[in-house]
Amino acid sequence: MAPLSTLIPLLLAALASALPDVTPVQLYAGTCAGYPNWPQDGDRSGGFLLVPDQGDNSTVDGLITSVEALNTTVVDVTTVVASARTILQCYDTAVNSLYTGVPLYIADTDGADNGELGYFAAGKTPEIYEHQIDGVTQSGVFLGYGGVTAWAYSFVPSLGGAGNFDWFAMRLLDAQDGALNEGEFYGFLKVVAE
Ligand SMILES: *[C@@H]1O[C@H](CO)[C@@H](O)[C@H](O)[C@H]1NC(C)=O
Ligand SMILES: *[C@@H]1O[C@H](CO)[C@@H](O)[C@H](O)[C@H]1NC(C)=O
Repeated sequence: MAPLSTLIPLLLAALASALPDVTPVQLYAGTCAGYPNWPQDGDRSGGFLLVPDQGDNSTVDGLITSVEALNTTVVDVTTVVASARTILQCYDTAVNSLYTGVPLYIADTDGADNGELGYFAAGKTPEIYEHQIDGVTQSGVFLGYGGVTAWAYSFVPSLGGAGNFDWFAMRLLDAQDGALNEGEFYGFLKVVAE
């Protein structure tokens, strides 16, 4: 049996978030240069998707983001592969729907919308980050704001009936280790070329 001194850190780690302790570093503030396939014409990126990554509930990883079935303002995570994917672009530092040009914002974390991502009338313009651990750049680029790339996800089971399906809600935290509400778990939101 392993000595207690080696077991205790393992037990503590199992209780805490498995989200890596990364330092988010914003890429090319003030331009779209950090987004995939930049530049197209002017300060415009190519199309990209947002994909949950490194979630503490790994079933969220690799799923696609889509507007909610019952609320076409809020972007969340669908479990239905056939759902319309939310395809975005960065243009003149704003993040827009690739097809409609409608901008996407992160709602204030202190308001009722609580850090959700969506086609709101106003809010915080999403930013793109890389992750570093001890100064070493990790793979992938991630969506966040204000130095934070950690999101709270929560599983929302289907109510049953036609057109209803399981999904995950998501909201950006106000700090990388921001507090979770009951039922939420940590994860990142990866930016992936379409
Ligand atoms: C994790 O996701 C699964 C669905 O993929 C769900 O059944 C389960 O309740 C979730 N667990 C937590 C803690 O969110
Ligand atoms: C959709 O959700 C947002 C954020 O929670 C809310 O502000 C808006 O009123 C909702 N819209 C509808 C049609 O329910």
